[in-house]
Amino acid sequence: MVTDVDQEFQRAKLRVEELRSQIAYHDYRYYVLTQPEVSDAEYDDLMRELRALEERHPQLITPDSPTQRVGERPVEAFGIVEHSVPLLSLGNAFNEEELLAWHRRATNLAERENFDMVCEPKIDGLAVALEYREGQFAVGSTRGDGQRGENITQNLRTIHSIPLRIKGKAGKLPARFEVRGEVFMTKAGFERMNEERAERGEPLFANPRNSAAGAVRQLDPRISAERPLDISIYALGWAEGGQAPTSHWKTLQWLSELGFKVNPDIARYKRIDDVWDHCRQWVEKREALDYEIDGIVVKIDDLRLHESLGVVGREPRWAVAFKFPPTQRTTKLLDIRVNVGRTGSINPYAVLEPVNIGGVTVKMATLHNEEDIKRKGIRIGDTVIVQRAGEVIPQVVGPVVSKRTGKERRFSPPRTCPACKTKVVRPEGEVMRYCPNPACPAQAFRLLTHFVSRGAMDIDGVGEQLSQSLLEAGLVQNPAELYFLNIADLLKLERMAEKSAQNVLDAIETSRGRPLSRVLFALGIRHVGSETAALLAQHFGSMEALEQAGAEEMEAVPTIGPVVARSVHDYFRDKTNRRLIKKLRRGGVRMESEAPPSREGPLSGQSFVITGSLAAFSRDEAEARITSLGGETSSSVTKSTTHLVAGEKPGSKLEKARRYEAEILSDDEFMALLRRHGAAAPSWRSLRKFYASEKH
Ligand code: IVH
Repeated sequence: MVTDVDQEFQRAKLRVEELRSQIAYHDYRYYVLTQPEVSDAEYDDLMRELRALEERHPQLITPDSPTQRVGERPVEAFGIVEHSVPLLSLGNAFNEEELLAWHRRATNLAERENFDMVCEPKIDGLAVALEYREGQFAVGSTRGDGQRGENITQNLRTIHSIPLRIKGKAGKLPARFEVRGEVFMTKAGFERMNEERAERGEPLFANPRNSAAGAVRQLDPRISAERPLDISIYALGWAEGGQAPTSHWKTLQWLSELGFKVNPDIARYKRIDDVWDHCRQWVEKREALDYEIDGIVVKIDDLRLHESLGVVGREPRWAVAFKFPPTQRTTKLLDIRVNVGRTGSINPYAVLEPVNIGGVTVKMATLHNEEDIKRKGIRIGDTVIVQRAGEVIPQVVGPVVSKRTGKERRFSPPRTCPACKTKVVRPEGEVMRYCPNPACPAQAFRLLTHFVSRGAMDIDGVGEQLSQSLLEAGLVQNPAELYFLNIADLLKLERMAEKSAQNVLDAIETSRGRPLSRVLFALGIRHVGSETAALLAQHFGSMEALEQAGAEEMEAVPTIGPVVARSVHDYFRDKTNRRLIKKLRRGGVRMESEAPPSREGPLSGQSFVITGSLAAFSRDEAEARITSLGGETSSSVTKSTTHLVAGEKPGSKLEKARRYEAEILSDDEFMALLRRHGAAAPSWRSLRKFYASEKH
C-alpha cells in the first residue's frame, strides 16, 4: 500500500533533484561563465525551498547537494591524500633565450620539428587536485610535496565555481577522474578581505596568493566560505574508464564543456616566435586582469609527446613557465621620512636599501599616510615587501614579520612641519596631517611646480630649479604672480640670459589660454585630479559658477563624491585661495570653459520639465544630466516644453504637458534615454541614499 507519507516523500525527492540541477545550472552561469540568468532573489528562493525540503527529509541530504557547500563542522585535522599520479612543478624561463632553449631541447628529444603549443596564464595561487567519482566531487587535496597532499575537500566545496556534480554523456564520462587547477583570490577580494582584517585588528596578508592559501587551509570551512575564492582548472590529472581527449587543447575544451572553469585567455601556436610574442604581450596585459598571474605556462599540445618526453626530477620536459619580471621584492626599510605636499599634506615615504624591481632600481617608495603604516604594521628596520607595477610609484606592501630582529622601531609622525616648523594639524575624519601655514615655503614650492607642470598649465621652461629661484628671490610668492613678471624681473636671476627669459615669458603667455579644466587642476585643490577637474569645468562652465556653487550642487555631478565636493567647496571659501584666483583672473588666465557648459549635445534644442519623484535621482541630479547632454530644463510647462519626465505622483503638470503635446517619459523611459547617451551613472548622493534605504 502506498501511503500519503510515501507519496509526499517521493514528490519531495523529485523536487529536490530538480532544485539541485537548477541550482547547479545557475551556479555554473554565475560562477563559471559569470553570466547569471536569474536574479539573486530568485536564486535564493530555490535554495530556500531546497533547504526546507532537506530539513523535512534529512535522508535526502547528499554530499553533493548545494546546501552542503559549507559544512557545519570544523575539520578535525587534514587527512593525507596520496596522489596516484604526482603533481609536478615547472621549469622556468626568464627570458627569450631560455624559452628558445626549452623549445630546442624538446624539438631534439621529440625528433619532431613542429608541434603545437598551448599558452595559459600562470595564476599565482595554490595548486589543487579534485577527484570525481561517478560524476561526484569526492576528494579535494593540496599539492603538498607532489606525492602526498592534504585533504581539503570540505573547504574546496565552498568554492562555487567547483562543480559538485558533473553530467557527462552516458557511458562517456570516466568513472573516476581527477582534474587539477589553481585556487586563487581576486585582487578586489583580497583588498576587501585585508580591509576587514584591518578593522578587526588582525594581521594582513601580503598578497592574494597567501590569503588564498590561508583560506583553503582553514580548519573551519565556514571561514573559508567567507573568503572570496575562485578556481581555474588547467589539466586532467588522470582518468579511469570512459574517454578522454588526446591533446591538451582538446582536454581544456572538454573540461570546459563538463562545466569546469577553464581560463579563457589561452592560445595555441605552432611557432615558438609566436609563443614568445604572446608571453611578451602578457607582461603588460596582466595588469588588466582582476587576479594575479606571475607568468605564462607553455605546454606541448600533443599528449603522446608528454609520455615520450618525460620528466626530469619534478619538471616535465613538455612544459615550461615563462616568468614575468618580478614586481615585488623584499628589501630593508632604512628610514621613514616625510615631505610636504602642495596642499600642505605631510607625506611619509620609505627610504629603502636599493633594490632592482623589474629592471628599475628602487630607493624610495610611498607609504601613503601614518594610518597605512600602522595598519600594515611597518617598522623602521623591517625587511619589507616592495611592489612596483607599470608607471605607478613603488609602494611598500608590508613587513616580513618573520625577519624581525627586535631592533625595529615604530614610526612617530612629526609634530611640526619639517619645512616651516608650524605645528601640524589633523582634520577630523582625515588620515593625513597637514601643515596649516599658507606661507609654508615647502608648500609654495610644491604648488608652484605642480601649477607649471605638464598636465597642469604646462609652462615650458619653468621647472623645479627656476621655481625655486623665483621663490627664493621673492619674485613670485604664488603661481598667480607668474603672470605679472616682466623681462627685467627675470634678468635679475643668476644665469638668466635675455633669450631664455623671453622664452619663459612666451611660455607663460601661452598658458593664459589653457582650458578651464587645466586651470582648475593646476590650483592643486585637495582631492581634485585632472579627471575631476575636467568634470567640474564641464559641469559648471566657469570659475565664477564654481566659486558660488554649494557643496550639494557639486555632489550632484555624477562621480563627484562628498569628500571631493567638500574639499572643493572649502577651497573656494578660503580667503587666500580667493585672492589667488582673483589675481589669476587679473593676470589674464582663462576662467571660462571654451564652450559654454554643454550647450551642444544629443539633447540640444529640447526642453525638459521634471515632475514627481524619480527612483534613481533627485530633481537636481536629473537636471544636471539633461544639461550635460545639451538639453534645457525648466520648472514649469510651457509651449516650448518638448518633454515631461513624469515620476511618481506627477500632479497637474502632466495634464498641461498633454495639452501642449509634449512627449511624456516615464521614469524608466527617462533612465533608458540617459543610458543611451551614457549619462545614467548614479551620483554619490543617490547611491548613499540607496544604501541607506536598505532597498538593495
Ligand atoms: S601545469 C607540469 N598550468 O604553477 C604541470 N600550472 O610551478 C604543472 N600553475 O604547482 C602544472 N597556473 O600551481 C600549470 N596554467 C597552469 C598553471 C600552473 C598556475 C602553478 C601550479 C603549479 C605551479 C608549477
